[in-house]
Amino acid sequence: MKILTIGDIFGRVGRDAVFNELEHSRDKYDLIVANGENAAHGRGISKPVYEELCRAGIDAFTLGNHSWGCPDVVKIMHYNDNICRPANFEGDVYGTGSIVVKAKNGIRVGIINLIGRTYMTQQAKSPFYTADEEIEKLSGKCDIILVDFHAEATSEKIAMGYYLDGRVSVVFGTHTHVQTADAKILPNGTGYITDLGMTGPSISVLGVDKNIIIDRFLGGMPKRFEVAGGVSQFCGAVFEIDENTKKTLDVTRIYKEF
Ligand SMILES: [Fe+2]
Ligand SMILES: [Fe+2]
Repeated sequence: MKILTIGDIFGRVGRDAVFNELEHSRDKYDLIVANGENAAHGRGISKPVYEELCRAGIDAFTLGNHSWGCPDVVKIMHYNDNICRPANFEGDVYGTGSIVVKAKNGIRVGIINLIGRTYMTQQAKSPFYTADEEIEKLSGKCDIILVDFHAEATSEKIAMGYYLDGRVSVVFGTHTHVQTADAKILPNGTGYITDLGMTGPSISVLGVDKNIIIDRFLGGMPKRFEVAGGVSQFCGAVFEIDENTKKTLDVTRIYKEF
């Protein structure tokens, strides 16, 4: 089976890239999973944006440090079971850290969302021990498992890949907004990429208007972040998985500009 994973969708430009890419390709995939933490103007996901992306063909959503950027995310989580936020957030937060969705071919796919702790500001429990707990919770409820590890440090993400190798079908990273060129199959069959990259404005600094960020590094009065316009990029990866062995057979990175 083929699963498309899409990196952090950033604002209107990112959503347009999703439409452009999926318009002709959505039927090729058994399941489409996207990180939606920046989908609404770069911060969080709102109800209209969520609905728009579902119409575009996205079947399930993961989030990250911007999970709570739009207040109506709580409502989205309450009424829909295809969206999760990092499972290892510290404290009493709304929502779930893992979900099970049915792919077009009938396979039950468990999706776990985790957040890193290295160079990240959120209070979070160990993503490693939380991964163990979430895999245990999903036992018997799904056929294969995917993990979105939303983290900054490449070392933490690569370590997670090897930690889960052979226990889940896929580990993909999100959050840095820069795609890494290390898509591969780990020794025990887990498909892996350190970061899918960002689906959003290509001429930008991680999605934000480049001049605002350049000014920020030059000093002076801070300016409000604005989503960049112009050319869009689509970033993701396709994982081909053998549903019997649960191993990944092939990983293909996607980077396209529209
Ligand atoms: Fe992001
Ligand atoms: Fe993030």
